[in-house]
Amino acid sequence: MTVFDVHAHVFPRLTRAEGSMIADAGAPWLRVHRDGTGMMMSGDDEYRPVDPGLWDPARRLADMDASGVDAQAVSSTPLMFGYAAPPSRAADWCDLVNDRILAYCADAPDRLLPLCQVPLQDTRLACEAATRAAAAGHRGVHIGNHVGDRNLDDPGIVEFLAHCARIGLPVLAHPWDMLGADRMRGHMLPWLAGMPAETQLSILGLMLSGAFERIPASLRLCFCHGGGSFAFLLGRADNAWHNRDIVRADSPRPPSEYTHRFHVDSAVFDPRALRLLVEVMGTGRVMLGTDYPFPLGEKDPGAAIRACPGLDDAERALLLGGNARAFFEPARTKEGTPA
Ligand code: CO
Repeated sequence: MTVFDVHAHVFPRLTRAEGSMIADAGAPWLRVHRDGTGMMMSGDDEYRPVDPGLWDPARRLADMDASGVDAQAVSSTPLMFGYAAPPSRAADWCDLVNDRILAYCADAPDRLLPLCQVPLQDTRLACEAATRAAAAGHRGVHIGNHVGDRNLDDPGIVEFLAHCARIGLPVLAHPWDMLGADRMRGHMLPWLAGMPAETQLSILGLMLSGAFERIPASLRLCFCHGGGSFAFLLGRADNAWHNRDIVRADSPRPPSEYTHRFHVDSAVFDPRALRLLVEVMGTGRVMLGTDYPFPLGEKDPGAAIRACPGLDDAERALLLGGNARAFFEPARTKEGTPA
């Protein structure tokens, strides 16, 4: 049985000078100390202390061995997205980051699957960057769940998602730049309340805008953190769709009829919540996600899946790795060549 983690982050070693490619102030870079610890930096500010697995592939592989993880999809850290920068500058930055992620994963190509990032603020440049990265060896694309005030159902982002479907590139959508920051000043509330709300907003936006009617059904799209709060409140959205014309104005089907259009990871940390998620999504659409190596991640990868009630061994194997293997399987054309 394969254990495959679809939600794990990397911050390749980037100097402050390299980080300044994307931002004059608040440049993202990595400060590595003599004692082996590190600090994610935003310009002069210390953003977050980090563990070596974030930038050291040997350490990551040792951690994976110790925790029984066979494979990981490796994505950048949202601090690195660069969506606020001028598009051409962001495109050059994404190329640099993507090259570093490829180099990071080259140590163990059968275990570390590189995911690229793109300048999502510019649809044409984002599509070109995704195509370029896929040709260079990236196995998926990691995107933030919004670009400023544009949600995932924004026409330009829908066009990008359709492009990913056409070139067979899986998409991992991660919450970031959380709403309501002025009312979430402490206790990591942006992570605890903001992130699940962001993801729910993204999923409901795609459902209620009718965007899933315009995006090819072949798109492979996964939301982090179990899709945030959407599964628990899907009944509320369905009830609203049935009872208010303004809710159903743009979508021909109620929200619950679109759950087969995306996947979610398993990072909900409670077997009871995971049970509900599996009932909402089906056993084929939930995949192990740990948020490695960050402190809010699942420290014993797959513990919630193993403790989830009502799953047989075959279903548990799907959640632990089988679904992820299929999700990241290289797309093939009818002739059998990579798409
Ligand atoms: Co994450």
